[in-house]
Amino acid sequence: MTTTGSEAASSVPGYPMPREGGCPFHPPATVRRLTAEEPVSKVRIWDGSTPWLITRHADQRALLTDPRVSIDEKRPGFPHMTRGRAEVVDVTPPLITNTDAPEHTRLRRMVNLPFTVKKVEALRPAIQKITDDLIDTMLAGPKPADLVTALGLPVPTLVISELLGIPYEDNEFFHRQSTVALSHTSSAHEAAQASGALVGYLDDLLGQKMAAPADDMLSELAARIKAGEMTREEAATMGVAVLIAGHETSASMIPLGTLVLLQNPDQLSLLRDTDDPKVVAAAVEELLRYLTIVHTGVRRIASEDIDIRGQVIRAGDGIIFDLGAANWDAEMFPEPDRVDLTRAARHHQAFGYGPHQCLGQSLARVELQVVYSTLYHRVPTLRLAVPLNEIDFAFEGIAYSLRSLPVTW
Ligand code: HEM
Repeated sequence: MTTTGSEAASSVPGYPMPREGGCPFHPPATVRRLTAEEPVSKVRIWDGSTPWLITRHADQRALLTDPRVSIDEKRPGFPHMTRGRAEVVDVTPPLITNTDAPEHTRLRRMVNLPFTVKKVEALRPAIQKITDDLIDTMLAGPKPADLVTALGLPVPTLVISELLGIPYEDNEFFHRQSTVALSHTSSAHEAAQASGALVGYLDDLLGQKMAAPADDMLSELAARIKAGEMTREEAATMGVAVLIAGHETSASMIPLGTLVLLQNPDQLSLLRDTDDPKVVAAAVEELLRYLTIVHTGVRRIASEDIDIRGQVIRAGDGIIFDLGAANWDAEMFPEPDRVDLTRAARHHQAFGYGPHQCLGQSLARVELQVVYSTLYHRVPTLRLAVPLNEIDFAFEGIAYSLRSLPVTW
């Protein structure tokens, strides 16, 4: 790795950076300073290494589509998210999340179909029904209710379980394991155990689908195993990736988005008082931008030297893209700290950018559009049941979230 003048040991900031008090939604002040003053800089991560941090929207777009930027986490110098991830790298099979083209293109094609806009739109009525039923149950239950367990977690979990063909009754098991697998506070041993339990669980289900296929994604993967297109381990690990990504992320956006809206009643009323799907869709994009829940940077490594803004990123240097920084880059989004549901925010990078851009983004969009357009219509008096400073944020995962959101009406 190269050492630059700005990398005097003590001056290189640690990453991820804690958020300051004040507004919990704001990216850390240091990230915002770097975006404005030093958009290509170095940070220090958990293993003491000092990868580059790329903060500007335009630079992220250029580098995340640059073939000299690799996601191959087996390359020495790759800036792993956690110790747990680093330790399993040699035993992790090729996946869409750790391969470059052409292997990535081949693997992604195998799982792409259920996530296309057309397929996801066909799920909209089912997602609406799930949402309506859960809101009925919440309204019939005691007050205050916890919006995380009443709606945030079950909507995406029911949807992804159905899509994959996983029994929803197992949700407590797989939610607990995926939380441990991804947390920055888990030891490497705990994370490996949790990932292993999930892979074993998916492997069992694949065995069942090979014997008795149904109309779901695991059955499609089972058919590919039989056809010799994938190993069983690749299919099980792919299933785990979709299961984790498919429920943790929307589960975090539903309560967080609601909290932001309850803090901004003028914006909430824009959403509550409309039936226009375009207004709802724009609101979802702005909340995705403003919150940028994937807040610990997406990780890559340079396979060749790259010149950018007068710096040279050397082959073998790790690179981190802070998506929140790009989504709060004032050059792209003037007054980024203002939530403005009418803003044209669709070019945000909350889903990443380039070949690894989120596979499930259409599904996430539909889930959020359905929930946000239904909840505030049906419960117009929805409000927080505790003061903001008593809300329990969880910042330790790859996506930040709320442990609970007590609401009443
Ligand atoms: C609000 C919800 C979501 C957010 C903010 C989000 C965010 C992201 C981001 C930032 C990436 C890029 C990672 C990178 O470049 O290294 C990503 C990739 C991915 N996401 Fe999502 N995601 C969401 C929902 C979902 C859902 C619902 C699914 C699945 C059903 C999903 C599955 C995936 C997969 C499989 C990848 C890896 C794609 C690849 O490497 O080719 N995500 N997501």
